[in-house]
Order: sequence, then structure tokens, then C-alpha cells
Amino acid sequence: MLKFINFSLFIQGHQAEWPYYAIFAQKYCILGLDCMTPAFKRTLVTAALPYANGPVHIGHLAGCYLPSDIYVRYLRSKGQDVVFVCGSDEHGVPITIKAKKENSTPQQVVDKYHHIMKNAFAEFGISFDIYSRTSNKVHHETASDFFKTLYDKGGFTEQVTEQYYDTEAKQFLADRYITGECPKCGNPNAYGDQCERCGSSLNPTDLKNPKSALSGSAPVLKQTKNWFLPLDKLQPKIETYLEQHKDWKTHVYNQCKSWLNSGDGLQPRAMTRDLDWGVPVPLPDAEGKVLYVWFDAPIGYISATKELLPDKWELYWKDKETRLVHFIGKDNIVFHCIIFPAMLMEHEEFVVADNVPANEFLNLEGDKISTSRNWAVWLHEYLEEFKDQQDVLRYVLCATAPETKDNDFTWKDFQTRNNSELAAIFGNFINRTIVLTRKYYDGVVPEAVQFTKEDLLVLEQMNAFPDKIGSALEQFKFREALQEWMNLARLGNKYLAENEPWKIQANEPERVKTIMHIALQISANLAILGEPFIPFTSSKLFALLNIVPLKWNSARQNTNLHSGHRIDMELSGILFPQVLDEAIDLQIQKLQKSKEAIATASAALEPAKAETSFDEFSKMDIRSGTILEAERVPKTDKLLKLLIDTGIDKRTVVSGIAAWYKPEDIIGQQVSILVNLAPRKIKGIESQGMILMAENAAGELSFIAPTKGTVINNGATIK
Ligand code: MF3
Ligand code: ZN
Repeated sequence: MLKFINFSLFIQGHQAEWPYYAIFAQKYCILGLDCMTPAFKRTLVTAALPYANGPVHIGHLAGCYLPSDIYVRYLRSKGQDVVFVCGSDEHGVPITIKAKKENSTPQQVVDKYHHIMKNAFAEFGISFDIYSRTSNKVHHETASDFFKTLYDKGGFTEQVTEQYYDTEAKQFLADRYITGECPKCGNPNAYGDQCERCGSSLNPTDLKNPKSALSGSAPVLKQTKNWFLPLDKLQPKIETYLEQHKDWKTHVYNQCKSWLNSGDGLQPRAMTRDLDWGVPVPLPDAEGKVLYVWFDAPIGYISATKELLPDKWELYWKDKETRLVHFIGKDNIVFHCIIFPAMLMEHEEFVVADNVPANEFLNLEGDKISTSRNWAVWLHEYLEEFKDQQDVLRYVLCATAPETKDNDFTWKDFQTRNNSELAAIFGNFINRTIVLTRKYYDGVVPEAVQFTKEDLLVLEQMNAFPDKIGSALEQFKFREALQEWMNLARLGNKYLAENEPWKIQANEPERVKTIMHIALQISANLAILGEPFIPFTSSKLFALLNIVPLKWNSARQNTNLHSGHRIDMELSGILFPQVLDEAIDLQIQKLQKSKEAIATASAALEPAKAETSFDEFSKMDIRSGTILEAERVPKTDKLLKLLIDTGIDKRTVVSGIAAWYKPEDIIGQQVSILVNLAPRKIKGIESQGMILMAENAAGELSFIAPTKGTVINNGATIK
């Protein structure tokens, strides 16, 4: 905490950077005792509107919904005025792509997923004040009006450009429908708007060898008129804005900088698209065009607030004393730090973001999370296997949150954090406290008879936690905050371990009263301070202690549980049961299945070999045969020595199928065999021919044989 005096000294030493500190001083009340107390009167927190095109997975949660929820719960607990909005992003190409895949309409897609997502968030305790959707009427009107206002102010430039058009599918191609080679890093599968490998934002015409994702054909350029936000002209304004926010997370600030500084700086960006799904462009000459999804979606934050607070929403968007904070994933940075602020500034009525605490990406078991490859932990599936254990996932995702760099979620780590932290430290402390209180005092909180010096120190340490945790949260350091909270549990555990009340109860009952009194106060504070992170457990703990949920500032006191108060006598004191090896193995097996399925699917994508002639092909003499004998080739894992009846003769073939077939299971199996392949020695055995097998990308093999019910004699030709 900087006091005013320190602060002025601080400024003197930084004359060159005066403007930044001047803004800092404006933003935060430096005349008060606590200079980090914002001068803002209220906070509006937004979490990125997820595309309603699939269920929610841990990457979503870790990226922005969990941190925003923790932050908001903290502010509420502090008694601050805060509103938390989110909703489904129901427009844009991702929705139309999903509709194509599911053979349905965009409307059906969003109707289905909006509810699935809304429920998943609710089940994990993400405490939005509203979870809205961008296909609703309020939003269409709000986005439409916003566009009109900018248009009337001359905020757009009209440009006729050449856009890629798919002549087979007879439609203009959205950026996402075009793939090709990234001009910056050479990634052959870059999208028309972005390269996911190097993170560059692209225009479709930047791509080399573009291809339409609709028909696979090479698209042609065709003229079309659209409305552009002249970001090039707005660059100076954006630069000033960014310079006022040097306090943003380093990677966020740096990414913005690199946008501003790369190439010729910001370029005009089309805010309308030739597409039939979205908010129609509210202009007479805009048939068949909709607002760009990145124009309409962030306006969804405004619409959601309007829907939540029809009479008061303007306070949260137009009053300078509102602090706007956007929680997002790192792929959304440019839209929230540059484009949306530019839109808001041009509109001139709204506040812009004061902070954009973006997270980096969460990987899963070493691989990028991917919906299409089913490489994910889906929230609804998690709950099927870990019933009522939302808080374990919340805890683990917060403890490993990708705050400053990408991070990895592993099931082993999940298990360790549950068993060795939640259960062994926090859970153990609570359980001991509850059990002993029930046993010694029939659940009645004992009085603190006399504090020792050591007790007073523990109480002092305990009282420091609300500020420590709070200050970390205010700086968006959620991992640190959570660790501090666990440190409070550690303090409690250590206190009990050192004082061993169970050993001295017989001889020093008065001393034990004080010890248990303190342990109970620590328990109450753990419930208060843990609420943002593990709300379900926090309310269980309040129930165990038999008190109404308390707010943040009461955690500073050591009198939350008065002597004479009776705690609950029935509920289980075990808040976190062990996660067993079997449960973890099951999860790992499940992921393994996804890997195999991915392998199978990508096998189908192997490109065709170079052309061959009929003559070449007819040189192959392929016959139907039957396996007569089979045995393992010693000292190898893969090879079987087979005796095959080819109809012409009986011959030995060495085949690499031992990983998939046991010798005894394939006697009598019909096969296709290339009989005129030059013989070769394998492990000292002469192999006279080759069995044809089908192989998937996982390496799994299957015989190519006559189908059941057809009588094909050995020696029959295959052509
Ligand atoms: N739907 C986008 C995504 O999932 C995020 C939109 S955030 C908003 O990446 F600001 F546009 F709403
Ligand atoms: Zn690239």
C-alpha cells in the first residue's frame, strides 16, 4: 500500500513517465489512505460471449469464465457495485459451419447450444447476472442502432473490394471458409482471417493457394461493396488509449503494441459481410449483407446489460465512474483492445475498457484443446464422473490458470491437487476442527480462555489474509490469490499439528478450549475467503459451522464464531474425498480413445499416390489363400511366421501383424496374398509373398478377405 507521501516521491523519480502516473493518479484515489482504492463507483464485468456451436470444455472455463467469476464474487463479497454479463455469440461463420456439419440450420444450432452452455455455466457456479444471446430482439436492435449511429456520423468508409467467391457454391466466402498458406509462417492450413499457428491476423487475399472450404475449389475474386471502420485513421486515438493502460497484463499490452507497430499499422476493416446469417445491415443498399460478427458480438455486452437493467443500464455504460473490465482468451485481444474500443470511441457515448485481463491458452495432457478432435474435457461429462465435485475442477483450473503463459491440464495433476492440497491440507484441517468440536464440546464453540503469544501471532497472521488475497485478486493474479487462501489452511493445519489438542485434552482442557476457538475462527475465515474460488464448498462449510454466509470484510475479525454458538452436528466434515487412481485412469483411457479416433479419421485424409497404369497393376498376381499355420517369430514383437495355402502351393510368409493378432486366432483365416513378390529374408526366414492388410493411422491392421457367405477357393485371382 502506498501512502500519499510515498506516492509523491515515487512520482518525482519518474518525471519522464509523468503522463502515465498522472493518469494512474486520476484513476485511483491517491488522497485516501489506501491509494489502490479505485475512484470508480461501479464495475461492469464482461466475459467473452462464447460461440453457441458446441458444449463447454475446461479451456473455456479456465480462459475467461472462471477468472471473471472469481473476480466478480470477490467484488460482491467486498460489497462493491458490480454487474456481470455474458451470453451466447450466435452469429458469424462458426455457427454456419456447425450448421453445415450437423446438417441443420444456424437457428437450430444456436437454439440447441445456447441452453447447453447456459446450463453448464450455471452448474459450475459461474454467477452471471445475465446470460443472454445475440439472436434476440434487444440485441438486433442495439447492434443495428449502433451501426446506424456510426454511419450517420460518417464513421465508416464505403469500399468496393474484390472478395473471394465460390462459383460452385454460388456465394461469397467468409474469411473462415477460405484456407491457404500463411504468408508469414508458411502454415499450409491458415484461415482467411487468422493463422492459428503464428497468430497473425490475415486477409483472405494474403493467403497463398487459397481454397474454398465449401466446395474445395479455388475461389475467384468478385466485386462487392462493404462498410469499413477506418482503423488507420483511428490509430493515434488507439495509441493514446493504450499508453494510458500500461498497467495491463504484459502479454496483452505487447500484443496490442505489435498490432499497432506491425507493417503499416492498423488497416481499415470491413464491418459488414456478404452472408445470410447475422444482424442485417440497416441500410437500403445492403441486401444480402449482415454486420460483421466482431462488430455485433461485443455490442452484445451492451444489449445484455440493457436486458438485465432496462432502466439503469446506461449508468453502467455511459457514466465515467463505471469501470469496464473484459475477461477474454488471448485470441480475442485485438477485438477487445483495439476494434471494440475504436467503435465505442467513435460512437462517443460509451465508456471503454479499463482493463482486459486476457488469459493465454490451456492445453490438455500436452496437446492443444480441440473440439473437432474431441481433445477436451467437457463439463457435462466431467459431472457424470465427478458428481458434485465442481469445486475440485474450479480449484485445479484456477491453480493452473494460463495467466501469463500457456499451461497444461493433466489428470495426474488434478488428482494430486485434490488429494494433497484440497483434501490433505484444507479438508483435513476442517475435518479435525469439526470432529474435535463435536467430540469435546458437543458442537458448542468454546471460549478463548487465554491467548498465548503464539496464539496472538497466529491471529495476526490470519487477519492479514483478506488483504493479501484481495490485493492479488485486484491485480488479476488468481493463482497467487488461491495459493494465499491455501496458505491460510496451511496456517490452521500447522497450528493444530503444533498444539496437538487431542493429546492434551485430558490434562489441559482449558488450553484446548482456546486452541479450538482459534481453529474455528480460521475455519470461518476459510469459508469467507474461499467463496470466490470454491463457492459450493464455501456454502457447505458455512452450513457445517451453522452460520449465514459472511462477507469479505468480516474475515478480518476473529469473532465470527461466538463462544456458545453451536455448529452443525449432522453434516459430514469431509469436504473433499480422495480421487482414486481408477477414476483418473478412466479419464486417461477416454482421451486415448479420442487419440485413436483422430488417427482413424486422419488416415482417410492420406493423399492419393501418383498415377499408375493398368499394365503395371496387372503385373501383380494377387490370390485368395488360407492361413494353415501361424507362430511368433522369436525375439520380435511384430512378426508372425505364417504357412499359407495359396491354391497353387503352400508357402511361408512373414507378416508384421503380431501386435493385432494372436497366432491361434487366425488359423483358417482367409487372406489376399501377393504371390509374385520377390522372396526376401526376414529375421533369417525366407518370406515368399505378402498378405494384404488395411491399416489405419493408429497402425491397426485388418485382413482383406472375401466377404462372408461368398465361396472363394484358394488360388482364386483378385483383380
Ligand atoms: N465468440 C467469440 C469467441 O468465442 C468471442 C466473442 S467476444 C465478444 O471467440 F466480445 F465479441 F462478444
Ligand atoms: Zn502463420
